[in-house]
Amino acid sequence: MADVATPLAGTELDHELERMLAIERFDPPDGFREKALVSDPAVYERAERDPEGWWAEQARALDWAEPWTQVLDWENAPFAKWFVGGRLNACANCLDRHVEAGLGDRVAYHWYGEEGEQRDISYAELLAETKRLANALLDRGIKAGDVVGIYLPMIPEVIVAMLACARIGAPHNVVFGGFSPEAVRERMEFSEARALITVDAARRKGKTAAIKPAVDEVVGGLEHLETVVVVRHTGEQVPMQDGRDVWYDEIVAAADPECPAEPFDAEHPLYVLYTSGSTAKPKGILHTTGGYLTGVACTHRLVFDLDADHDVYWCAADVGWVTGHSYIVYGPLANATTSVMYEGAPDYPGKDVWWSLVERYGVTVLYTAPTAIRACMKWGAEEPNKHDLSSLRLLGTVGEPINPKAWLWYHRVVGGGRCPIVDTWWQTETGHIMITPLPGIVPTKPGSATRPFPGISADVVNADGEPIDEGTGLLVLRRPWPGMLRTLYRDDERFKEVYWSRFGERTYLVGDAARKDEDGYFWILGRIDDVINVSAHRLSTAEVESAIVSHERVAEAAVVGQPDELTGQAIVAFVTLVGGGDGDDALREDIRGHVAARIGKIARPKRIIWADDLPKTRSGKIMRRLLRDVAEGRELGDVTTLRDPVVMAEISEKVAAGEEEE
Ligand code: PRX
Repeated sequence: MADVATPLAGTELDHELERMLAIERFDPPDGFREKALVSDPAVYERAERDPEGWWAEQARALDWAEPWTQVLDWENAPFAKWFVGGRLNACANCLDRHVEAGLGDRVAYHWYGEEGEQRDISYAELLAETKRLANALLDRGIKAGDVVGIYLPMIPEVIVAMLACARIGAPHNVVFGGFSPEAVRERMEFSEARALITVDAARRKGKTAAIKPAVDEVVGGLEHLETVVVVRHTGEQVPMQDGRDVWYDEIVAAADPECPAEPFDAEHPLYVLYTSGSTAKPKGILHTTGGYLTGVACTHRLVFDLDADHDVYWCAADVGWVTGHSYIVYGPLANATTSVMYEGAPDYPGKDVWWSLVERYGVTVLYTAPTAIRACMKWGAEEPNKHDLSSLRLLGTVGEPINPKAWLWYHRVVGGGRCPIVDTWWQTETGHIMITPLPGIVPTKPGSATRPFPGISADVVNADGEPIDEGTGLLVLRRPWPGMLRTLYRDDERFKEVYWSRFGERTYLVGDAARKDEDGYFWILGRIDDVINVSAHRLSTAEVESAIVSHERVAEAAVVGQPDELTGQAIVAFVTLVGGGDGDDALREDIRGHVAARIGKIARPKRIIWADDLPKTRSGKIMRRLLRDVAEGRELGDVTTLRDPVVMAEISEKVAAGEEEE
């Protein structure tokens, strides 16, 4: 066993972390490098010399029913086609081929329920249930190209649902279980979903939250929605609508167990996933089959140094986010991985539940978000120290910049000082990891995602699009990559405008600011648009504003992000009331509840500041820049274009007085 550093806690640990802050570079530990899947840095040059050849080599790791005739068609940029002419079935690549190779008994997921139930689901079992659900969907008239919504908690059925859709070529549209039914309705409407797979109720830290009745309230008017499949999870009594609603267990039991996996074109849509952009309307990110699966499978294998025969891998995200799609479902399954899946929250039933699961299943690779690490830091090293974490050999983070202190805590307390950390930068749009260390060869610096994955071309540019060798600017991607979004669902124009207009149709504008240091390392600084990153979850200021404004007492609202020790950023809302004047705490709570009902709990503003007016330019545009300045405690920037400077003075006073914290 690798040497394990003595567990530390309290002030001793604080002192050690302080000392470690002076360390700028961490080389891959010897014991790790020697056994790593990639141990030769030549992989970068190989991919750079011939990116298409490199990706084709990765694609060959999948099973193709028909080979492609062209790796990349970029003629019609920014609309890319990868593996042109190739045909494959994503579900067969995730399940059938492993079962056929004799891996049917391998555990695909060690599922652990909030109440301590355990289910080990083998590849053969997952395949059998997926085939039945696929047939049941076909029986209900769902066919290739029809969108199927999925609104489920972290239970095994969510995986079955996604794979059953993939098997029959019906793009899924998963909505994060923490989003409100109203958000589900909107996403079903935008994508014209024909079916929705949901649940009777979800568990929330020992309580039960009714889901089906809440869904009923909002989906009634959706003209395309013909079928609602309900998973029986908590056993709650729920109303079922004749002709529309069916029980998951009943249709699965009645379905034919045989369901051939029809191959689809490499560019057949695999899923649409809505994410937040600069406007109130979420963007439907469209991913297709061949390139996406190639990208997620190869990054999952190489970034996590995967040894599928021995590793127990755990991506502690929710399947409702892209991280779950790519690194709980498609990447791990394509690689025949054994994963852990946990239903509940990291602090339920106890603050050591994660660490107890690492010990129970012998987790070797753990992938999570900085916000979770910061929460664990707050709960204290005593929690992880209660458990034997010596099985861990590699740690990953995703979703937001990680502050060096949290990085070091993760490294020292969770990883015992022996595990490399892969800080992986990517987005819903990119489909898979884009900037990351390869753990066996790239030295890490706490807080930096290091360098682009082989075959990826990233740059930091100035406002004119000129590359910056060293310094801060806008992050762009130069070259197409296999998992890239193909468009925004039914909105090609917005796709072109948002990502491919600022620097031309061959340069992808990421929407993040970044710094490149003297070693060419990338440091992601945060969003440049009106998107806030709360606990590694992307939220649009416009979306939150429109939710607030829909409250009957509210006249106007402006939302900005402010730095937050725990959640990375927190939402601050400046609100003017109908008829003017200030509201009270009860109204604040009411507005928060209203936002939770419209979007979801994560979108509740942390601070609500009453304002008589909002700072506007003479043409009436809200100057969010100034609101950000006050929220972040900075000197106000240029106020010369402000229509009425008194407004800002009043707001600054209120913020300084510390009004309004939740
Ligand atoms: O701002 C970047 C941040 O999260 C954004 C993408 O959010 P989303 O599409 O929800 O996907 C999150 C999971 C892939 C990015 O534009 N981000 C993501 N990873 C990192 C990050 N910021 C800093 N470091 C990261 N490793």
